[in-house]
Amino acid sequence: MKLAGVAGWPVEHSRSPALHGYWLKEYKIEGAYVPLPISPDHLPDALHLLPKIGFAGLNLTIPHKETAFRICTELGVIDPDVLKIGAVNTLVFDSGRIVKAFNTDGYGFIQNLKAGAPNWNPEKTNVVLLGAGGAARGIIVALLEAGVTSIRLLNRTKEKALQLSKIFPNTTVGDWKKPAESLANADLLINATSLGMKGGQPLEMSLDELPKSAIVTDIVYTPLQTELLKNAAARGNPVVDGLGMLLHQAAPGFEEWFGVKPQVTPGLRKCVLGG
Ligand code: ATR
Repeated sequence: MKLAGVAGWPVEHSRSPALHGYWLKEYKIEGAYVPLPISPDHLPDALHLLPKIGFAGLNLTIPHKETAFRICTELGVIDPDVLKIGAVNTLVFDSGRIVKAFNTDGYGFIQNLKAGAPNWNPEKTNVVLLGAGGAARGIIVALLEAGVTSIRLLNRTKEKALQLSKIFPNTTVGDWKKPAESLANADLLINATSLGMKGGQPLEMSLDELPKSAIVTDIVYTPLQTELLKNAAARGNPVVDGLGMLLHQAAPGFEEWFGVKPQVTPGLRKCVLGG
């Protein structure tokens, strides 16, 4: 029986066990995917032991992505594409050790966008990206790989956006407090901050200057229809919600551990939303 799981602290809110559990059942695979509440202090020991006790691999969620990146860098198992992201969310184990470490968040983001906006042409896209944290980094790498024209970064702490623009080509920095001038030229607006999440602070941004043809997407998926997406849809912009990013980012790990390339289907979406 194959075994994988998600390590987080806390981890009880993770939807990953439901998601992978759905696929295991769907593809009739003898396996299990379990939530693992592992404190930051115990992460190094856990990453040493889990491969030895038969796990095929692991997903990492908050707050472990950066620590795991450092550990995997020392072990020399980081996928080269991930070096600029500084965070990993998927590990593959073999013969009692970690053999691969990658980050599938950006992949999940792009797949979700392609599914939700089938006419999207990355090569004719000026992006406005809100945020400069770990999630934003993964998305920038994936957008550049997809060939977007430019990325304008807006972040509350401007310094963090400036640092990213030094690392990544075709990126410029705008003013978080004066978004209008950046939005006027956007073909794709992405919220990669935590603003708008249920129970948290709202994202208050006027979309008046945003062209009505611009696609608007949000990495926040609780609620599924964030205020940003509601406002954008009300003025006629195409919108793509963030749940698909979660679903798509899970697929590469599942394939590595359980040997089947899983599909993101309406049934999966319903199952993950339902729990
Ligand atoms: P993640 O890994 O999910 O990206 P993170 O690295 O903590 O998490 O980044 C959170 C992002 O949300 C950052 O861009 C953060 O802005 P700062 O760099 O200024 O901290 C943004 N964010 C969080 N709370 C915010 C708030 N109240 N107003 C504006 N931006 C906020």
